[in-house]
Amino acid sequence: MSHQDELISKDIIAYLQAQENKSFLRFITCGSVDDGKSTLIGRLLFDSKMIYEDQLSSIEQDSKRVGTQGDNIDLALLVDGLAAEREQGITIDVAYRYFSTDKRKFIVADTPGHEQYTRNMATGASTADLAVILIDARHGVMPQTRRHSFITSLLGIRHIVVAINKMDLVGFSQTRFEKTKQDYLSFTTKFGFKTIDFIPMSALDGDNVLHQSKRMPWFDGLPLLPFLEQVSVTRDKSKAGFRLPVQWVNRPNLDFRGFAGTIAAGQIKRGDDIIAIPSGKRSKVSRIVTMDGDLEEAGADQAVTLTLEDEIDISRGDFLCSVRDPAAQSDQFAAHLIWMSDKPLLPGRQYFIKTTNNTVSGTITDLKYKININDFSHEAAKTLALNEVGVCNLSLGKPIAFDAYKDNRKTGSFIIIDRQTNGTVGAGMIDFSLRRADNVVWQQLEISRKERASAKHQKPAVLWFTGLSGSGKSTIANLVEKRLYDLGRHTYILDGDNVRHGLNKDLGFTDADRVENIRRVAEVAKLMTEAGLLIMVSFISPFRNERQMARALIGDDAFIEIYVDTPLEIAESRDVKGLYKKARAGEIKNFTGIDSAYEAPQNPELVVNTVKNSAAQSAELIVNYLASHGYLEG
Ligand code: ADX
Repeated sequence: MSHQDELISKDIIAYLQAQENKSFLRFITCGSVDDGKSTLIGRLLFDSKMIYEDQLSSIEQDSKRVGTQGDNIDLALLVDGLAAEREQGITIDVAYRYFSTDKRKFIVADTPGHEQYTRNMATGASTADLAVILIDARHGVMPQTRRHSFITSLLGIRHIVVAINKMDLVGFSQTRFEKTKQDYLSFTTKFGFKTIDFIPMSALDGDNVLHQSKRMPWFDGLPLLPFLEQVSVTRDKSKAGFRLPVQWVNRPNLDFRGFAGTIAAGQIKRGDDIIAIPSGKRSKVSRIVTMDGDLEEAGADQAVTLTLEDEIDISRGDFLCSVRDPAAQSDQFAAHLIWMSDKPLLPGRQYFIKTTNNTVSGTITDLKYKININDFSHEAAKTLALNEVGVCNLSLGKPIAFDAYKDNRKTGSFIIIDRQTNGTVGAGMIDFSLRRADNVVWQQLEISRKERASAKHQKPAVLWFTGLSGSGKSTIANLVEKRLYDLGRHTYILDGDNVRHGLNKDLGFTDADRVENIRRVAEVAKLMTEAGLLIMVSFISPFRNERQMARALIGDDAFIEIYVDTPLEIAESRDVKGLYKKARAGEIKNFTGIDSAYEAPQNPELVVNTVKNSAAQSAELIVNYLASHGYLEG
């Protein structure tokens, strides 16, 4: 019977009271695949008797089948719950495990050690107070030790326990322990850790996990679990005042309008003045409603619904704040990023930026540098690859309420989501808002887009030609423009090759440069529609994401996507500019269709088939489309 079961059966009330009064420690474990992390957690759960009988017998069976410990129980199996990881022998997802001892309750986020899985570490770390960093005594400080420690520090964890594991494999050498300790201390001086403790152990055999190891009498510190039971973690107190990120507006009937969410920082009392950010509207708290009835006051981590004395307009994503110390608001930030995707970061691409309670579109406008994980120097970079950390400027589609990460981990962090796959590709921490956002205001023009358009007797639009190099985009765009010109329309052609001679002269053909290429031409095309023109954009524009961005920027009703559908073999056989030949010969790198992707449109307004139709017929089709959709009226 486990230690809790015993207590529960003897005195349930005593058990519940004891549980209530115990303090909580949230910690993460970080280590590389072979450092023995799962074994350590398994050992903690096993030795503190947190395993139930049925779990135990299933592990015993599994140990025989897939375990790595011969006839002994493989404790790692307790932790590596997923079948896939058992088969691979590595831990692949973040898992929160709860256990408790007589003295304390624990939540451990077991964060996978495989290099690729830094993302899970970031997820687990954002709520943790302490990190246990595992080092294999045989190898000492490894690159991933540096990476994990650095990210731990970035995420605001201030207490570190370095578990120097597998001491049995180095003959319990004190010298080895001391050397690793010095190596670790030498690179973490600037990480802002408040405490760093070192424990030599053998998780496999249980040395210095729960009990003092007899085999390392030279170590006079506490074993890991007794250490964790008593360590005091001074949580960086949130510097932010009261913050309620509004998760939803609860309006069951006309008489009740409540703003629901979990308090991210500070305290609130009935009658307190509050301010809504970003709107800046003020009111007073009239009720603090919870599942268990109304409260007089509430504080951080409580889920509440506030009602206000005045009807002010607040929506999901806004913050309710104390008036004295409100959150900031901005749509441009400097931030630290941890990149977590196999696909590299593309500055200029639109991603979803998800904060505590808000999802907005946003772009990394400028990657200032990436941080070398070995010597923590700053390196110039155009992109971030998997697991890399960088500092960037970020621009959002609309202003959001926020705090700097150093002031509040919850209201200062965000994740980055890929718009196509909906997968999380990065995590970020807001450093500060960019002044420029405050100092640039939109200048109203006296003459409107509508007036400009009606003076030209046309409806401005962008005809966005996309397709492979040599597909016929420019030829067809030219024919269309001639027809429109003959009809007395005001037009212009933005052609990839031409724009790359001037405005985009600095850009090449990497994915990142193509993203920027399209971003700029979309902005120019937009300005030209403001001027009342009919624009033809003729760019390969190979990525769906950026074409979607252009559509969103220009507006659905003015954006006509035309897919010039020419199969690669045909474009290549035409090879008007001789570029395919060069690309095949390896003289040109990143050539679309050869060694760079082309993502065909899924729902274009028009598809022109240049195999079946001549260029003139395709142009005709397009002009007919414009006529039948009202673009040529007026
Ligand atoms: S895009 O992909 O960024 O939209 P863009 O339309 O501006 O490309 O430029 C494509 C033109 O650049 C092609 O028509 C071709 O003449 C030339 N070019 C030179 N190198 C490449 C390359 N690696 N891939 C594609 N086009 C290239």
